[in-house]
Amino acid sequence: MANHKVVCWDCGCDVKDMYVNTCPKCGGLLTVKMDLEPVKEMKPSDLAKTPIGVWRYAPFMPVDASRAITIKEGGTPLYDVKAVGKEIGISDLYVKYEGANPTGSFKDRGMTVGVSHAVEIGAKIVGCASTGNTSASLAAYAAKAGLKCAVFLPSGKVAAGKLAQALFFGAKVISIDGNFDDALALARQMSEERKLYLLNSINPYRPEGQKSVLFEIMDQLRYEVPDRIILPVGNAANIWAIYKAITELQEVGWIDKVPMLTGIQAAGAMPIANAFKNGTQDFVPEDHPETIATAIRIGNPVSGRKALKAIYSTGGYSTSVTDDEILFAQKLLGRREGIGVEPASAASVAGAKKLREMGIIDRDERVVCICTGNALKDPDAIIKSCEPPIKCANNIEAVKKILSE
Ligand code: F0G
Repeated sequence: MANHKVVCWDCGCDVKDMYVNTCPKCGGLLTVKMDLEPVKEMKPSDLAKTPIGVWRYAPFMPVDASRAITIKEGGTPLYDVKAVGKEIGISDLYVKYEGANPTGSFKDRGMTVGVSHAVEIGAKIVGCASTGNTSASLAAYAAKAGLKCAVFLPSGKVAAGKLAQALFFGAKVISIDGNFDDALALARQMSEERKLYLLNSINPYRPEGQKSVLFEIMDQLRYEVPDRIILPVGNAANIWAIYKAITELQEVGWIDKVPMLTGIQAAGAMPIANAFKNGTQDFVPEDHPETIATAIRIGNPVSGRKALKAIYSTGGYSTSVTDDEILFAQKLLGRREGIGVEPASAASVAGAKKLREMGIIDRDERVVCICTGNALKDPDAIIKSCEPPIKCANNIEAVKKILSE
């Protein structure tokens, strides 16, 4: 395990109590400060003996890799998506397909680290609020670790695949009569009363695992830093995790260029995109977020200030896309590349298309879109956006007639 400490991101003080989610002194956000001195003696190829995946990057992780709770997360493909690139006018476009993780989303990267840490500190019950993927992932890792698990979900707003996973892996699934922000407030209160160990991304250990997506992209592009990385933003921790990974690679001297981090939100839930438009360091929460991309249906992102720091510091950008633009991009990936992503994930590609049209992205930029979750997470959204199955009588003539049309 790399030496590390938990500090307040706002006032810098050390935080020793593992059950608090904000700074006991100033209420600020927490973060992990890694001691990367030993890594400065290394080069990227020294890590290549371990298969690609979260634990290849153990020297950047604040838990003991030899005792990790792992289901072999990460190591997801980086696709060179030429057909989609041609369609939207970007000549060097890639998709990092996080749907290939064990539970079908990038959340597994954070959970392997978060749940390993929970076991290290002796937690018995873990919990989270979720728009779906976090709960699916936590339920699986809690099962693997033999921990009890409670997940708080916004009633009626979680996609079928995700709900099925949380139930299947044996979590206590609590359906809250409210939205994600309400569910998170309740989960945080339970954690503050020490009734559970909270594994939302406000927990500083979760983003540490999520840093690995950036490390993998660098390995897969042989350390040629892309010009831009685009990803959907909901509760806003993933973009922060990627930024943190970039700063750590700079610190150890493995990169000398920074990709422009570009955060895409849904038009019905866009506090970060609005803050970026107004040039502010903080955001104004939205009371009634709404979008087909239920994964990012969030009005009050806990890591919102960190996300804005990530965007501004890298010369990045933030904007929103409509539900129609999301569904168009989702279908484009499916029909041109054979890549199935859930609506929130398609927001990254929809954002790439929009920013290219606006002239923010140049034709010859090297762009990586992170597609955060698998299409099968939300079968209802897909079925609604496609033609229904063709009804056919049980005879060969009827089949022939349909195929000749
Ligand atoms: N994409 C997908 C598929 C997600 O599930 C989420 C977040 C995001 C993007 C946004 O990531 O919150 O780090 O900005 N899902 C959380 C959940 C909120 O509960 O599963 P973020």
